[in-house]
Amino acid sequence: MTIAYLNGIFKPIAEAKISPMDRGFLFGDGIYEVIPSYAGKLVGAKLHAERMNQGLAEIRIQATGAEYDWESIALGLIEKNKSAFEDTSIGVYIHVSRGADSKRFHAYPAGISPTVFAFAFQIPNPAPADRHLVKGLRVNTHEDLRWSRCHIKSTSLLGNVMHFQQSQDDGVNETILFNAKKELTEASVCNVFVIKDGVVATPPLNNQLLPGITRHILIESLVRDKKFTVQQRTIILDELFSADEIWITSSSKEVAPVIQIDGKPVGDGRVGAVWEEALTSYHSHKFSF
Ligand code: PDD
Repeated sequence: MTIAYLNGIFKPIAEAKISPMDRGFLFGDGIYEVIPSYAGKLVGAKLHAERMNQGLAEIRIQATGAEYDWESIALGLIEKNKSAFEDTSIGVYIHVSRGADSKRFHAYPAGISPTVFAFAFQIPNPAPADRHLVKGLRVNTHEDLRWSRCHIKSTSLLGNVMHFQQSQDDGVNETILFNAKKELTEASVCNVFVIKDGVVATPPLNNQLLPGITRHILIESLVRDKKFTVQQRTIILDELFSADEIWITSSSKEVAPVIQIDGKPVGDGRVGAVWEEALTSYHSHKFSF
C-alpha cells in the first residue's frame, strides 16, 4: 500500500481520513500541485512551490511556515513509496484545502487550519526524443466553458473534468479549448503549443489559462538553446488547422505531440521534427529549474 501525507504525518493511504465538513470536499475550496520526478529528482520544485504559494495567497489560505515545505513533502513521499512503484517516474499530488468547519457557510471562516493531503503516483517514463518511436495524440476542440480565473490551480475542477470527459467520450486524448473570440486558451489538463514554419507559439499568460510549469521550462529551454523563435501571443483557432505541429504540455505528459485534431491530420499527420529537437532541449534542462 502506498504511503500518503496528511497534516504533517506520513501514513498508509487507507488510514488518511478527512472530515466530510472539509471545505475542499464541500466547496472545492483549495489549491493543488502536481510535481513530477524522475529517478528521485524533482522537476521544477521551486516553480511548483511558488505557484502553490501564489494560489494560496490569492484565495487567502494561510499556509506559511516550516510545515508547509512542499519540496520536502514531495521528496519524503518519493522516498517512502519508491518500492511501491515499478518505475522511478513518480508524480506527487499535493492538495491544500481551507480546512474543516463546523457549519457550511460560503465565506472564508476564521480560525480553521488548512488540510494538507499529498500522495505519490506513477507517471509515464520520459518519451525518447525520436519521432519514429513515439505515437502522437489525437485531440478535439471545444469552446472553453470554464470560469474566468483559470490561472488559479484550484481544486474546483468540474469544468476541466467535463471538458476532459468529452475527449474520452469522443475517443481522443484531450480537448483543446478556445474562448468566445475563437482564441486558443489551453487544453482541459494541459497547455498548448502551435508550430508553423519553425516558429513555436503559445498563448500569453492571463486569467484564461494555467501558468504551466512544463510550459515555462520548455520555453526557457528553447531560449537557452537558441532553438526556434518562441512567441507568446494570441493564437486564433484557425491556426491550429494549418499548423505544422501541435504539442500539449503538462507535468505528467512532459511535451507530447498531437497528430490529429477534430479528425484532421496535423501537418502531415506524423510526429514532427521540431518536436524532436524541442524535447531534446527540454530533457537537457528540466532538472535545472
Ligand atoms: N494538470 N493547464 C491545466 C488546466 C492543467 O490542469 C495543467 C496540469 C496544465 C499544465 O501545467 P503543468 O505543466 O504545471 O503541469 C495546464 C495537472 C498535471 C493535473 O491536473 O493533473
